[in-house]
Amino acid sequence: MMRFSVLLFSLLYTTMVSAATAAAGDNRPLLHYTPEKGWMNDPNGLFYDKKADLWHIYFQYNPHDPFWNQPLYWGHATSKDLTTWNHEKLAISPDRDDEGIFSGSIVIDHNNTSGFFDDSIDPDQRVVAIYTNNADIQTQDLAYSLDGGYTFTKFHNNPVLDVNSTQFRDPKVFWHQHSNQWIMVVVKSQEYKVQIFGSPDLKNWKFHSNFTAGYPGFQFECPGLIEIPITGTNESKWVMFIAINPGSPVGGSTNQYFIGDFDGVEFKPIDHFTRFVDLGKDYYALQTFSDVEKADGVLAIAWASNWQYANNVPTKEWRSSLSLTRNFSLDYVAANPESKLLTLIQTPVFQTDVAKTLEKKNITLSANDSIDFEADSGVFEFELKFKAINALAHSDLANLDLYISSADGKESIRFGYDPVGQSFYLDRSNTPYKNPYFTGQLSAYVEPSSDGQYKIYGVVDRNIIELYFNDGVTAMTNTFFMSEGNTPSRAQLKTNFDDEFYIESISFNELSV
Ligand SMILES: *[C@@H]1O[C@H](CO)[C@@H](O)[C@H](O)[C@H]1NC(C)=O
Ligand SMILES: *[C@@H]1O[C@H](CO)[C@@H](O)[C@H](O)[C@H]1NC(C)=O
Ligand SMILES: *[C@@H]1O[C@H](CO)[C@@H](O)[C@H](O)[C@H]1NC(C)=O
Ligand SMILES: *[C@@H]1O[C@H](CO)[C@@H](O)[C@H](O)[C@H]1NC(C)=O
Ligand SMILES: *[C@@H]1O[C@H](CO)[C@@H](O)[C@H](O)[C@H]1NC(C)=O
Ligand SMILES: *[C@@H]1O[C@H](CO)[C@@H](O)[C@H](O)[C@H]1NC(C)=O
Ligand SMILES: *[C@@H]1O[C@H](CO)[C@@H](O)[C@H](O)[C@H]1NC(C)=O
Ligand SMILES: *[C@@H]1O[C@H](CO)[C@@H](O)[C@H](O)[C@H]1NC(C)=O
Repeated sequence: MMRFSVLLFSLLYTTMVSAATAAAGDNRPLLHYTPEKGWMNDPNGLFYDKKADLWHIYFQYNPHDPFWNQPLYWGHATSKDLTTWNHEKLAISPDRDDEGIFSGSIVIDHNNTSGFFDDSIDPDQRVVAIYTNNADIQTQDLAYSLDGGYTFTKFHNNPVLDVNSTQFRDPKVFWHQHSNQWIMVVVKSQEYKVQIFGSPDLKNWKFHSNFTAGYPGFQFECPGLIEIPITGTNESKWVMFIAINPGSPVGGSTNQYFIGDFDGVEFKPIDHFTRFVDLGKDYYALQTFSDVEKADGVLAIAWASNWQYANNVPTKEWRSSLSLTRNFSLDYVAANPESKLLTLIQTPVFQTDVAKTLEKKNITLSANDSIDFEADSGVFEFELKFKAINALAHSDLANLDLYISSADGKESIRFGYDPVGQSFYLDRSNTPYKNPYFTGQLSAYVEPSSDGQYKIYGVVDRNIIELYFNDGVTAMTNTFFMSEGNTPSRAQLKTNFDDEFYIESISFNELSV
C-alpha cells in the first residue's frame, strides 16, 4: 500500500527540490521523470543495483531535438527512492547518425555466463544490455558495463540475433531459474508475433516458440514476460505484456496483457481474454525492472504519452514523461456480479512528504455543496470513497465531479461519475492544447463492491493525472496541458443533483516534492 506514503528523507529532498522547482515554469511534472531537454519515449533497461541500492532507468532519447529523430540513444537516470531522479550521461550511442539504439532491457549476469566480467566486478553489478540496433535491418545486440551501468562497451561480435528483418525488436530478457537459461521475448512486430528465445550465455540464442493473441492494432512492440504473485496465496502466474501502436481501441498506443503459464519454452494463456493495463491515453511500452528483490514486488514504468500526439504536445525544451513506478500483483476481482477474473492489480510507488491535508467523511452531497482543496504546487493526491444512493432512479445526468483547475478556475480537467452511465469519465477538454487525437473525454467501467462502493485514488502532477480504481484493479493515466504559468492547483468535489451521492470519505494531500 503506497498510498499516502510519507518519507523521512527531508534532507535529501531539500537539495532535489530546488532543481525541480527551477524547471517548473513549463509545468513540468515533479513526481514523473522527464528528460532535462530533448525527446524521450519508451523506458528501457530498468534494473535495481542491489550493491549500490540504486534504481536505474534508461529510455529512448534524442538529446538534440524535442521530437523523435535518429540518431537515437539510450538516455539514463538513477534514483534512490523511485521518486526523485538524477539525470545521468548518455549510456549507449549509435555508430551512425542515421541509426538508433532502440528499445531493450538490462540483466544482471551474476554468474558471468556471458564471460564479460572479471573478479573486480561485483556479481550484483554485472550489467548487460540487450537492445535492438536499428539500421538497415533490426538486430538484437549486446553491450556490457564495467562501471555499474553508466558507460557501456558494445560486444565485438554483434549482433547476437539477426533474422534479416526490418521489424524485429524490443528484446526483454530475464533469467528463468526453473529451466536454467536466459529467456528473451522479442517481437516480429508486423507479424503480430512475440517470439520466445532461450540462451545459456546471452550470446547464442535458440528459438523456442511464437505467441500471438489479443488486439492486433497496426503492430506489436515492447513485449514483457514476468511471474507475478497472486495475492493471498502461495501461487503465481506469468503475465505477457504486449504494446500495440497505432490502432489502440482508445486511439494510438496502449498496453495489453495476458495471464498464463510459462515452462521455459512456451507461454500458454489461462483464458482467451485480452486485458488492458491502463484505460487512459498516456500509458505505453511498459517495462518491468530486472533484479528486484522478491520482497519489493514486481515493479514497472511506462511511457506516459501516445504516438498520436507525443511529438506535438506544447512542452518546449523537452517532450514526454514516464509514468510513476507501479507495483504489480494479481488477484481475483469481480468483473460483474457473476464472474471474477484474475486481474493485474497496480499500486503506485513513490515517497514524498505531505505538505497539507484535508479530510472529510460521511457527507451526503447536495447540489449546493462542494468540498474544496488548494495545492499551489499543482502536485497532490486524493482518495475518494463514495456510493451512488439513488442509482437509475432518474433520467437526468447526476454527475459527481472532481474539478481540478488552475488558480483562476478558467482551465480545468474534470474527473467524475454518473450512475446512469455507470462509468467514470476523465474530461481534459477544458484546457488550451487542442489536437484532434488528444481525446477530450475518456471513460472507464469499474465494478463497484457488492454494497455499491467505489474507491478511487488519484495522483495529480502538474500535467498528468494517474487514477487507480478500487485499490488498483484498473488504472487510467492521462496528460493535460494548461497554459504556461497555470498549474492544476485547485480541486473541488461537487454534484449537480441533491442527495445522489454518499461520500464516505474524501481526502487530499498536497505533496512536497
Ligand atoms: C547462477 O548460478 C546459480 C548456481 O548454479 C543458479 O542457481 C542461478 O540460477 C544462476 N543465476 C543466474 C542469473 O545465472
Ligand atoms: C568470466 O568469464 C570470462 C570468460 O570465460 C573469464 O575470462 C573471466 O575470468 C570470468 N570471470 C569470473 C569472475 O569468473
Ligand atoms: C535480407 O532480406 C532482403 C530483403 O528481403 C534480401 O534482399 C537479402 O538478400 C537478405 N539478406 C540475407 C543476408 O539473407
Ligand atoms: C514462428 O514465427 C516465425 C516468424 O514468422 C516463423 O518463421 C516460424 O515458422 C514460426 N515458428 C513456429 C513454430 O510457429
Ligand atoms: C503458504 O505457504 C506457507 C508455508 O509453506 C503456509 O504456511 C501457508 O499456509 C500457505 N498459505 C496459503 C494461503 O496457501
Ligand atoms: C509491492 O507490493 C508487495 C506486495 O504487497 C510489497 O511486499 C512490496 O513491499 C511492494 N513494493 C514496494 C516497492 O512498495
Ligand atoms: C453520518 O452522519 C449522519 C448524520 O450526519 C449520522 O446520523 C451517522 O451516524 C453518520 N454515520 C457515520 C458512519 O459516521
Ligand atoms: C441551493 O442553491 C439554489 C440557487 O443558488 C437555491 O435556490 C437553493 O435554495 C439552495 N438550496 C439549498 C438547500 O440551500
